[in-house]
Amino acid sequence: MKRKYFFKRYSIFFCLLFLLFQVSCSEKTTEQQKIDNTISEIKIGFTVYRRDDTFIAMIVSNMEEAVKEGGQKNNIKITMNTMDAKGSQTVQNDHIDKLIEQGCDVLCVNLVDRTVAATVIDKAKAADIPVVFFNREPVKEDLERWNKVYYVGADASESGKLEGQIVVEQYQKNSNMDKNGDGKLQYVVLEGEQGHQDALLRTEYAVKTITDAGIQMDKLAGDTANWLRSQAETKMNQWLQIYGDEIELILCNNDDMALGAIDAYENTDKELPAIVGIDGIAPAIEAMEQGKLLGTVKNDAQMQSELIFELSYRLAMKEDISKNMNLVRGKYIFTKYTILKSSNDVVKE
Ligand code: BGC
Ligand code: CA
Repeated sequence: MKRKYFFKRYSIFFCLLFLLFQVSCSEKTTEQQKIDNTISEIKIGFTVYRRDDTFIAMIVSNMEEAVKEGGQKNNIKITMNTMDAKGSQTVQNDHIDKLIEQGCDVLCVNLVDRTVAATVIDKAKAADIPVVFFNREPVKEDLERWNKVYYVGADASESGKLEGQIVVEQYQKNSNMDKNGDGKLQYVVLEGEQGHQDALLRTEYAVKTITDAGIQMDKLAGDTANWLRSQAETKMNQWLQIYGDEIELILCNNDDMALGAIDAYENTDKELPAIVGIDGIAPAIEAMEQGKLLGTVKNDAQMQSELIFELSYRLAMKEDISKNMNLVRGKYIFTKYTILKSSNDVVKE
């Protein structure tokens, strides 16, 4: 008797609990539904450090595509206002003020100077507009200033390791890389902008990967060419005058600078040494197919743009990001780097 009574009483209790749970769940969805229904337009404020940077130009055009597709798919008007800071942080700060004044729902920022993220975050926080930084990574302390700040990019050290790996594989396959046969690789480095995480870490990890594989390195020269093909060509011309045929390897922090180095050699009768880049842009792949570039590492602009868009869209729709997106440490989204090999190389193997 007693047991029956106990069961009856508790089954009613569990039923009530279940009902309560159902109600709270459906309340949540209707709450999100209400928000979704009231939002009929999304404004994305987008600012880049330089629109004429080859990689950034790819991000912008992929992002424009994602905005168009996202609007059609979700049946909502999405606008993106893109501002070009042309290499000036002061100009970018003004642009950010303008985008905030215009009432954007989310701010996507490719900082000119990645050390001043705090100023940008404080402005956005005062207006309660979430910020998605991309490509130029603010330091951890800055990202922790506010809970509506995120970063989309890729792990710089990984690209350095993969670039180094291309050299190691080639060296092990073909010891002709050591042209003067002294058991060391005489090399020069074309670096990206000083202070950029991708410049510092790519150089460090490329060199480390090569020396960790037991290959001795001998640095002839290294300098910044600010990611630019033209500056890289000028720098390379100078080094060619000084070092000439001594150069056995050119490590480049990106493909544009690798192409600049190739340009410099093409104005001489010198044989091209091993040259490696990062990004996987179309002209670099072409140079690789022609045997001018040893290899490159794909920096996935397409995927980064899609993720910047998805994150921005969800933030603007006031969704719970922590549940809907795969965030690293609650703040970061990283795409993977991959080695790109020449199809000739693959055939040879
Ligand atoms: C890219 C470079 C680009 C730079 C701009 C890097 O991740 O590899 O090509 O110039 O970002 O910030
Ligand atoms: Ca040598």
